[in-house]
Amino acid sequence: MQPTSTDTMLAYSPSATARYVAQSRAAHQLWDSPLVLDDPVALRLVGEQARADLARGGLEKYSLLARSLRSFVVARSRFAEDQLAASLARGVRQYVILGAGMDSFAYRNPHSASGLRVWEVDHPNTQAYKRAQLAEGGVAVPQGTTYVPIDFQRQSLAEQLQTHGWDPQVPSFFSWLGVSMYLEPATVLDTLRWVATATPAGSGIAMDYVPPIAQQPWAVQAVLRMLAMAVAMQGEPWRGYFDPQALGQALRGMGFHTVIDWDSDTVNRHFFRKRSDGLGMGGGGHLLCAIL
Ligand SMILES: C[S@@+](CC[C@H](N)C(=O)[O-])C[C@H]1O[C@@H](n2cnc3c(N)ncnc32)[C@H](O)[C@@H]1O
Repeated sequence: MQPTSTDTMLAYSPSATARYVAQSRAAHQLWDSPLVLDDPVALRLVGEQARADLARGGLEKYSLLARSLRSFVVARSRFAEDQLAASLARGVRQYVILGAGMDSFAYRNPHSASGLRVWEVDHPNTQAYKRAQLAEGGVAVPQGTTYVPIDFQRQSLAEQLQTHGWDPQVPSFFSWLGVSMYLEPATVLDTLRWVATATPAGSGIAMDYVPPIAQQPWAVQAVLRMLAMAVAMQGEPWRGYFDPQALGQALRGMGFHTVIDWDSDTVNRHFFRKRSDGLGMGGGGHLLCAIL
């Protein structure tokens, strides 16, 4: 039987990993210069105590592992938002953020004048926490933002989106950041196949993923095993790993004509070149964008 989110802490509480990465984005606004992700709303979503803690600095500001994670978290949002911006020229007017967590794009949507609407899809417990944080931070929910509750392991994304006003005829861009590793590989592939078959030409998806740990250099393996253990202890175990070549082939087989896949060196070349603070990601995660 497939595990479901009822096997994880998500069934009982908001995602702890969503809160952690939200703090990373907020920390980036205060601690890193120049910014890779300019996200002024991030600081308003973490709560007063976290804002005060971040303003004081702390170990995470200097720890190599925390800096590497922070780099990956801001790079993947920047990557998805850059790919989304490019997709507007292909007719995209619907942005679906899968596993949105504390993503703040909807609250600073630079494409609202072009008519871009946003659907935030996530577990209802994480959504309830987010809406409380938005209220606490005084962040208004703009028109054109829709919350879609889901358990990816148990519910149909197509049904949930369509009952919440998403139009399958209009080209859509999806982002799926920090989620694929928490799902069964079959669930991830089924969702990608659904995007390929249910959305029109011009649509696309940006996501991140982790290749099988044993395929990585020894030092990266050690870090990834530590991370996997840390998130499992938070009740959100990693389940989905993808071989880059096999994933690329599967996506082309589904009908995506363009597949962009960046490993950590490529991410660093694009987003962290010539910095005097040495910020950048270590090995491990990949960023991917597939276009129809
Ligand atoms: C690491 S967080 C990433 C959040 C956000 N994409 C970001 O980058 O800040 C993982 C997100 O996936 C969601 N998630 C994980 N498993 C899920 C499931 N089975 N159904 C619905 N949402 C799930 C969590 O609620 C959480 O918001």
